[in-house]
Amino acid sequence: MRDIRTEIERINEVVSFPTIVAEILHAISSERVTIPKIAHLIETDAAMTTKILRVVNSPFYGLRGTVKSAADAVKMLGLDETGRFLLAYHMKSRVFAMNPQQSRRLKKMWEHSVSTATVARFLAVRANVQTAGKEYTAGVLHEMGKLVLIQYFPDTVPVVEQMIADLAMTDIEAENQIAAISHAEIGSELGEKWGLPPEFTEVMRCHHAAKTAEVNPLLVSIVRCADILCEQLGHGIGERSTEFSIQEDESFDILQQTIPYFGETDPAEIKAAIAADLEANAEYLKLIA
Ligand SMILES: [Fe+2]
Ligand SMILES: [Fe+2]
Repeated sequence: MRDIRTEIERINEVVSFPTIVAEILHAISSERVTIPKIAHLIETDAAMTTKILRVVNSPFYGLRGTVKSAADAVKMLGLDETGRFLLAYHMKSRVFAMNPQQSRRLKKMWEHSVSTATVARFLAVRANVQTAGKEYTAGVLHEMGKLVLIQYFPDTVPVVEQMIADLAMTDIEAENQIAAISHAEIGSELGEKWGLPPEFTEVMRCHHAAKTAEVNPLLVSIVRCADILCEQLGHGIGERSTEFSIQEDESFDILQQTIPYFGETDPAEIKAAIAADLEANAEYLKLIA
């Protein structure tokens, strides 16, 4: 068995987290960033400018064709939304610059990450949850540990997939058996070393065990609920969440206890509402994924 736990130390030296993304995450967390600063950042990158204009003019925002400059896009979107866009943009370019032989898996993982982020936002809006937009960022980041496994330990990934299929294990159980560490631990260890805000690191660590969360259990639970719904609605990565419903996961207990929408709404109804949201925003998802 490879000692991945020790090798992770080495990886931390190799995979630096882009400073700009770390800055954006801190800005989102601390709410200290200005429109001119972000607009300038975007304007220095022509591809990014083109992309943000396409995204902001998509039907998702209802502004079709009316936004012509990066500065206007930032004003229309607001700082939080722009920050989320920049994070997704940078993460995507990073993900696709990774191990080219693993591009199929990486693509699927990225699609799952942005879908989870988007569904987490749908849930927050529907349930009127005050997670201040952090649910999107946390959704994008939640499987960071898996991205590391795919890039640096690609030989472990098919074995884990086989164990999930043949032995009815969860991905966490299979990873622990094969690598003595899970993607949840890998993600949170790297997140801590990179100095990401603790609530995002916690989502990486606790998204399969929401009740162990201490910093922001509500954020973890919203992301986990979105994660499971994505598995069930065709945006999954084979985490075996298709076999149970959201109310069987501990994240749902936390949501039910703290948010009236989850206490009062039938889980099947929640799933149907999110499926409709996904369908209505299919074009946006294709654009961002
Ligand atoms: Fe996961
Ligand atoms: Fe996931």
